[in-house]
Amino acid sequence: MMFPIELNHDIKAGVLKTLPMINDIKDEELRRRVVDAWTFSLQANGYAKIEEMPGSGMPEAEGLGDQSMHLIVVTLTAMSIYDNLEKAYKMDLGLDRDILLACAICHDIGKPYEYNPENRARWAIEYKKTGKPNLRHPAYGAYIALTAELPEEVVHVCANHSPEGRFVTRSAYGTIVHYADDGSWFSLASLLDLNIPKL
Ligand SMILES: [Fe+2]
Repeated sequence: MMFPIELNHDIKAGVLKTLPMINDIKDEELRRRVVDAWTFSLQANGYAKIEEMPGSGMPEAEGLGDQSMHLIVVTLTAMSIYDNLEKAYKMDLGLDRDILLACAICHDIGKPYEYNPENRARWAIEYKKTGKPNLRHPAYGAYIALTAELPEEVVHVCANHSPEGRFVTRSAYGTIVHYADDGSWFSLASLLDLNIPKL
């Protein structure tokens, strides 16, 4: 993998500690790429760990806890949607569980750029030049996933789990992650009266 910076070991170790479900990915190469990709995105944007980002869907939205909780619930929910469907319908639905795990764990991998306080301060002033935000997390997430040489299934989910996916036909991986993502946000919004904008 050709990362433009040398990846920091402490940040790598922190990613695994924050998201222990990475260890459920059986394919060693895929597991390594997921850790490297998260490390690169955090490090390139001045973060040492995922928990430093607030637990919201976008910087303007209300959130709960920190960003690690969101990644954990979306991963648990995406895997349970898939496993429950196979269990209830008693059939093999044909997805690769390793890839689905990687898709869910990486779906918001672009958020460090969208949340980066330096970026946000600059965009607030220079938006006529840069746009605001310059990129939302799905676009930056696709850059990270491509740079980390994650499989194209994961690149697609990073780019299209969100409303950006309205302009393409979402994959089955992307559809499951999309509903796991929206399902968690809008359930929380209802349970706790959070103001979660519906894009
Ligand atoms: Fe998300």
